[in-house]
Amino acid sequence: SDPLKVAVAGLGTVGAATVRLLQEQADLIALRCGRPVVVTAVSARSRDKDRGVDLSALTWYDDPVVMARDADADVVCELIGGSEGAAKEVVETAIARGCHVVTANKALLSNHGPALAAAAEAKGVVLAYEAAVAGGIPVIKTLREGLAGNHIKSVCGILNGTCNYILTVMRATGRDFADVLADAQALGYAEADPTFDVEGIDAAHKLSILASLAFGTKVDLSKVHIEGIRHISAVDIQFAEELGYRIKLLGIARQTDHGIEQRVHPCMVPVTAPVATVDDVFNAVVIEGDFVGRSVAVGRGAGAGPTASAVAADVLDIAAGRASAFTFGVPAGQLAELSDWSMEQ
Ligand code: NDP
Ligand code: HSE
Repeated sequence: SDPLKVAVAGLGTVGAATVRLLQEQADLIALRCGRPVVVTAVSARSRDKDRGVDLSALTWYDDPVVMARDADADVVCELIGGSEGAAKEVVETAIARGCHVVTANKALLSNHGPALAAAAEAKGVVLAYEAAVAGGIPVIKTLREGLAGNHIKSVCGILNGTCNYILTVMRATGRDFADVLADAQALGYAEADPTFDVEGIDAAHKLSILASLAFGTKVDLSKVHIEGIRHISAVDIQFAEELGYRIKLLGIARQTDHGIEQRVHPCMVPVTAPVATVDDVFNAVVIEGDFVGRSVAVGRGAGAGPTASAVAADVLDIAAGRASAFTFGVPAGQLAELSDWSMEQ
């Protein structure tokens, strides 16, 4: 049957690994979705950079928006990043043209998710974003499909790999915050602007997306209380340890009598709690549903391999014709405003 053609915008940590995965696992992917998946076109800023993948047979575009408009593709993967500019234009252009979109861009979805979902659904194309939250953990699918029969009471967990890596290494070695952040950047975990990681903004982007899926509300970043980890010292971590606690940056979204509470901040977690032992770049997501009870998933939250794995899962779903038509689990036009939401829903 006809191959699914994929254009990839952005060839950094995630984009290059995605092209590599789609090329190296081509036989497995064709078997699993019943048709071949081929990368046809790519775009990034610098054409000369060695990205460790063979791009020789692919059409190169200097401008990712032109690629999104013109490339021979059924799917455009937006792996550039940022909530405005090229990334947003790529996604809007691909949707307007009738192409499916796969993105890892939580900043974009947190700021423009409802409008982009409405545009995709109006065009009858998929807007998929498994890679945007918790890296390799399939949490979007879990909330939207796996737990679709539940009213969700809460979603919480460790949602930023960079911060968890920094807190883990500081605890183990007593090393300085800035020094460990530089390691996280070198490992490809951090955002282009690492302020988003260490100030808790990246975790807030992800939490706002999870809350939308969990509660059927419009993503609304302005409703998330945000504190980061920049002010935490190795001494704080050591004192917590002596008292039987670990410091973790948690995202928490839950139903309360007064509406949905969403917050990101460092927490003192008892060493016996399940998330206390989730270290390094690992993330953990804990979901409470009314029928399923508590469900916990742990996996690598950042880095090339885990993120490319999640992007590929979305591409495969599109190739196999099983991707969700509703970006946030319900039709975009029926997502409630957070202020209008009630526990009766
Ligand atoms: P990188 O900074 O490594 O890569 C960004 C890529 O986009 C580069 O190839 C860059 O080109 C290209 N690019 C940037 N601006 C433009 C532009 N204006 N026109 C064309 N190309 C452009 O980022 P990551 O791969 O780390 O992240 C990509 C996305 O994935 C982001 O949304 C991020 O939040 C998300 N993400 C990242 C994870 C990670 O672990 N790194 C995990 C989960 C999600 P060039 O290489 O030529 O400079
Ligand atoms: N910078 C992000 C993190 C990448 O460290 O979690 C994964 O979304």
